Amino acid sequence: MAHDQISIPLLLFLICTLSAATVNHATLTGKFGENGAMKRKLLDNGLGQTPQMGWNSYNHFPCKLSEELIHQIADAMVSTGLSALGYEYINLDDCWAELNRDSKGNLVPKASIFPSGMKALANYVHSKGLKIGIYADAGTLTCSKTMPGSLNYEEQDANTFASWGIDYLKYDNCHNNGLSPQERYSNMSKALLNTGRPIFYSLCEWGQDNPATWASSIGNSWRTTGDIKDTWESMTSRADLNDVWASYAGPGGWNDPDMLEVGNGGMSTEEYRSHFSIWALAKAPLLLGCDIRSMDNETFELLSNKEVIEVNQDKLGAQGKKVKKTGDLEVWSGPLSDNRVAVVLWNRESSEATIIADWSDLGLNSSAVVDARDLWTHSTIYSIRDQLKATVEAHACKMYVLTPH
Ligand code: GAL
Repeated sequence: MAHDQISIPLLLFLICTLSAATVNHATLTGKFGENGAMKRKLLDNGLGQTPQMGWNSYNHFPCKLSEELIHQIADAMVSTGLSALGYEYINLDDCWAELNRDSKGNLVPKASIFPSGMKALANYVHSKGLKIGIYADAGTLTCSKTMPGSLNYEEQDANTFASWGIDYLKYDNCHNNGLSPQERYSNMSKALLNTGRPIFYSLCEWGQDNPATWASSIGNSWRTTGDIKDTWESMTSRADLNDVWASYAGPGGWNDPDMLEVGNGGMSTEEYRSHFSIWALAKAPLLLGCDIRSMDNETFELLSNKEVIEVNQDKLGAQGKKVKKTGDLEVWSGPLSDNRVAVVLWNRESSEATIIADWSDLGLNSSAVVDARDLWTHSTIYSIRDQLKATVEAHACKMYVLTPH
């Protein structure tokens, strides 16, 4: 057939393909409605295709913000090499603003701690190749009661944030007058989109109204739990509460079991290794919550594990979950791109134990032969059949990527 001729079968194929594309578009619009349109715009901005990575002030510096601190954190993010591993957002939490708005109703940065203002701060963070996040509240006051909330000021505040060059908003839920979260959080979502600036939108509604079921059309991540504390009990319970919603996460919108406590001193190194491994596997936001200016080597080693970060940032974006539990011995697992499988063998008991994951637990064919990469020892066990088995210390975990032959 000459190149400039088109055969009848090819013509028919093209007609069918084009009409199928039209039907698909109509189905999408019908299914997702107005919210779907918003979601597509958020996705068009390219945000949240993988879970967000960065730092937030709250876990280590609640209400102890300053311009100098944020400068130094941004400097440390770069000088430690963490930014090169993907940690990009420097996020201010509660307490950055004056209690009163100005005469035009604008939010005002607290002059005693941010004398140069937010635009200058954003410029500084941007000059380091990083992005800057801010915090606001979908009620009348923030949780600390030291700054105003954004309820009924959504457009104005979103425009203020955009004018400062803000890249990320965490939107909290205190003092909300009992109004519906769907409405309050949608209003800010629309306001952010209307600014025309791509602003990552992180809903912090504490999982109260099951946001996993509605927030993916509004924002890029949603908290599934109340606040984490720097303890084993708090961390493990956040992991379990978040796990229930695994099927709702995916590129563009992530379940958020709260920020990392690694490096804050309340857990052992093995407990922090478990914390970081499970957050990575569960495609949770990796928002550092320690003082990265002075972290010790062990903390840095945990937070900078490239192979673990790669599981979190895998392009398939499937949240790994708990697939087997025998007492407090657990297997967590999820699919990765290229038919690989991520696995965490997690010993939540208080003494050493052997944990076994059978291929059937991991969704692998019974005849599969795999190479298992141990992401913490950086070594590979070749050609394993039937099951993955390891002895794991108390409160510790082993984390693997399995590649079938
Ligand atoms: C809580 C929120 C925390 C932190 C705190 C600030 O509601 O869950 O992550 O932002 O408010 O006051």
